[in-house]
Amino acid sequence: PLLLNSEKLIREISCCRDWLEQKKTAFSVVSMAYIIGAQPLCSQLVGLSQGQKKLCQLYQDHMQYIGEGAKTGIRECQYQFRHRRWNCSTVDNSSVFGRVMQIGSRETAFTYAISAAGVVNAVSRACREGELSSCGCSRAARPKDLPRDWLWGGCGDNLNYGYRFSKEFVDAREREKSYPKGSYESARLMMNLHNNEAGRRTVSDLAHVSCKCHGVSGSCSLKTCWLQLADFRKVGDALKEKYDSAAAMKLNSRGKLVQMHSKFNPPTSHDLVYIESSPDYCLKNQSTGSLGTVGRLCNKTSEGMDGCELMCCGRGYDQYKAQIVERCHCKFHWCCYVKCKRCTKTVDQFVCK
Ligand SMILES: *[C@@H]1O[C@H](CO)[C@@H](O)[C@H](O)[C@H]1NC(C)=O
Ligand SMILES: *[C@@H]1O[C@H](CO)[C@@H](O)[C@H](O)[C@H]1NC(C)=O
Ligand SMILES: *[C@@H]1O[C@H](CO)[C@@H](O)[C@H](O)[C@H]1NC(C)=O
Ligand SMILES: *[C@@H]1O[C@H](CO)[C@@H](O)[C@H](O)[C@H]1NC(C)=O
Repeated sequence: PLLLNSEKLIREISCCRDWLEQKKTAFSVVSMAYIIGAQPLCSQLVGLSQGQKKLCQLYQDHMQYIGEGAKTGIRECQYQFRHRRWNCSTVDNSSVFGRVMQIGSRETAFTYAISAAGVVNAVSRACREGELSSCGCSRAARPKDLPRDWLWGGCGDNLNYGYRFSKEFVDAREREKSYPKGSYESARLMMNLHNNEAGRRTVSDLAHVSCKCHGVSGSCSLKTCWLQLADFRKVGDALKEKYDSAAAMKLNSRGKLVQMHSKFNPPTSHDLVYIESSPDYCLKNQSTGSLGTVGRLCNKTSEGMDGCELMCCGRGYDQYKAQIVERCHCKFHWCCYVKCKRCTKTVDQFVCK
C-alpha cells in the first residue's frame, strides 16, 4: 500500500498539471462549509449558518463565486504549504481543514484568511465580468496621482463590492454566535474575525492600477486605466509571510484579545493572529487534525522543512525507484502553441516512515 501511495504522490508532483487540477476539482469539499459551485438551492447547501442562508436566498447568483473563491483559497493554501508537515489537508474530510480548525493555531489563522481572501477575489472579479445582478465594473474613484491625460474607467474589478459582500457573508457565521465574555469560544470568535479581515485586506492592499495603451501604432499616447486585483499567487505569498510573523494573542481581563508579548508592535487589521500554539504535525492525531507525515515524500538533500530529517520527524524514510512522466522534447509550433512528448524517467524517491 505504501508503494501505491507513493506512486500516487509521484504522479501528483511530476508533470501533470491537468491531472492535478482534475483531482482537486474532484476534491470539492468546501472550506468552512462554504459550498461547492454548482448547487443553486440554499436549502441544499450544507453547513450554512442561519444568516448565510438568508444571504444565500437573496443573492443566489453569488453562491457559485463564493464556493469557487473558497476553493481557490484552499488550492493556494495547499501550494504554499506543499513542503511543510502540515500541508493544508486534514483527517476530517467533511471540510478541507477539518479539525485543524478546532484549535486556534497559526495554521487555522492562515486558512481563515486565505479563504476570506479567495472569496473577495472571486466576487470582485465576478462583478467585473457581469456575472452578478447586483454589481458591475468597479466605480472606484480616479487615483489622484494618475497622469492627467490618461483615461480612468476601464472596467475594473469591483473590490469595493467584493469586500463588502464577502465581509457580510463570511463573517456572518461568527457574528451570529455569542459567547460569555472571557471564554475560550469568544477568543476564537475574535481570532476568526480578525483573520478573515486580514485576508480581505491583503487582497485590497495588493490591488493596483492597470493600464492599456492606445494611440497610433504603439505610440501609447493615450492610456485607459482601471483597478485590477493582483494575481492570487501574490495574495498567497503575502499571507504566507504574515503567517510567519503572526502574533500570539491572549484574552485580557476585559475580554479583549491582546498580544502575548508586549515588546512587539501590536498586530494591525492586516496581520494574522492566533491563540494556541501548533502541534508538531508529525503523527496522526484526531484531536488536533494532524494527518502526520507517514507516507509523505521528502527531499534527501534538503535541509529545509521538505528535507527527510525534518519532514519525517527523525523516523527515517524508505527509498524507492519511481518512474515519473515528464513533458519533454517540446517544440514550438507556428502559431502559437507548444507540443511536447511524454518521457518516462526513473528517479529516486524518499518517503517518510
Ligand atoms: C469521508 O470519507 C469517508 C471514507 O473515505 C466516507 O465514507 C465519508 O462519506 C466521507 N465524508 C464526507 C462528508 O465526504
Ligand atoms: C493528540 O493531541 C492532543 C493535544 O495536543 C494530545 O493531548 C494527545 O495526547 C494526542 N494524542 C495522541 C494519540 O498522540
Ligand atoms: C498532505 O499530506 C497527507 C499525508 O500527510 C497526504 O495524504 C495528502 O495527500 C497531502 N495533500 C496534498 C494536497 O498534498
Ligand atoms: C532537494 O533539495 C535540494 C536542495 O535544497 C534542491 O536543490 C533539489 O532541487 C531538491 N530536489 C527536489 C526533487 O525537489
